[in-house]
Amino acid sequence: MIYLDNAATSFPKPRPVREAVLRAMRDCGGNPGRGAHRLSLAAARCVYDCREAVSELLGLGAPERIVFTTNTTHALNIAIKGLLHRGDHVLISELEHNAVRRPLCRLTEAGGVSFDVFPVAGRSTEEILAALSERCLPHTRAVICTHASNICSLTLPLAAIGSFCRAHGLLFLVDAAQSAGHLPIDMKSMQIDALAAPGHKGLLGISGCGILALGEGILPETLTEGGSGVHSMSARMPDEPPERYEAGTLPVPAIASLRAGIDFLRERGLDTVRAKEEELFCSLRDRLSSLPDVTLYAPEAVGAVLLFNRKGVAPAAVARELDNCGICVRAGLHCAPLAHAALGTPEGGAVRISLGPLNTVRDADALWRALK
Ligand code: ALA
Repeated sequence: MIYLDNAATSFPKPRPVREAVLRAMRDCGGNPGRGAHRLSLAAARCVYDCREAVSELLGLGAPERIVFTTNTTHALNIAIKGLLHRGDHVLISELEHNAVRRPLCRLTEAGGVSFDVFPVAGRSTEEILAALSERCLPHTRAVICTHASNICSLTLPLAAIGSFCRAHGLLFLVDAAQSAGHLPIDMKSMQIDALAAPGHKGLLGISGCGILALGEGILPETLTEGGSGVHSMSARMPDEPPERYEAGTLPVPAIASLRAGIDFLRERGLDTVRAKEEELFCSLRDRLSSLPDVTLYAPEAVGAVLLFNRKGVAPAAVARELDNCGICVRAGLHCAPLAHAALGTPEGGAVRISLGPLNTVRDADALWRALK
């Protein structure tokens, strides 16, 4: 079996990640922050260690502002719904996933928020900034954008957009669903106010744990209320992160796996992992572009994700045939209809190949043979 669907979730998980899950179940079986017995304290230590690792990875320098959520979508919902108010106007990129688009559409219908979309594909950093400037209104409050598209390897210039936001007094919210673990992120120098990321994609943990990283002074309204393990007499959630946003029991085995995934990436080196993914990407892109019936989308952007179609064959049929050959890819719209429209894919979307740190030349060769 050859797995090329790492943008959906990374697979297989490295051995240390799998071992960390078992260790957490064996040694940290208590509920973190709920009680003072040894197993509860062990679980709390495991959670705190992971907060520290994530904070360091994201250049935040504040583990207490790393909030664990159930997934990236949950983290984005807290940031978007908790920071925007009636009357606010927002700018989002044309590459956004439904995890950004749908919460905003909900606010548009229910909460008097409006948004405009700025173009990105095929544009330089200067052109992207000019597009932002053109769309900025007196009541624009935030820019929300992905770091890396989930359907191709296009990325957004976060540092430049962060500077734009600071200069214009805008909040800067980033969806790092496809970049965390693949690309360097430094929230301070990129001037990011809130960043959402998954534990189970590039960071190699198991599913069940997402990340909301909050910049200094950023305190969204809560989305979920309940037990937090602290200030139990109060009828309200605590004022400060992370407990303010972590109502209910945390997924300790998933958090332990996230920490192990980060350690695995650190040991290998993010740059080394990225270089290997880019090498595989280039070899596949160049071979696919030699097939006369293949259309590649945004092939100039080098990264871990390659999108294509074959003339006259539905993308779902291509994915099905590949599955019959033991190769897992994802076809369709990938929950990102805005991005598909921006790249000009047809109604059924396209076929996505997404690479991870454990893919090899052998995997790329097998895909190439199957497609040929
Ligand atoms: N958002 C994930 C993907 O792109 C699930 O496949």
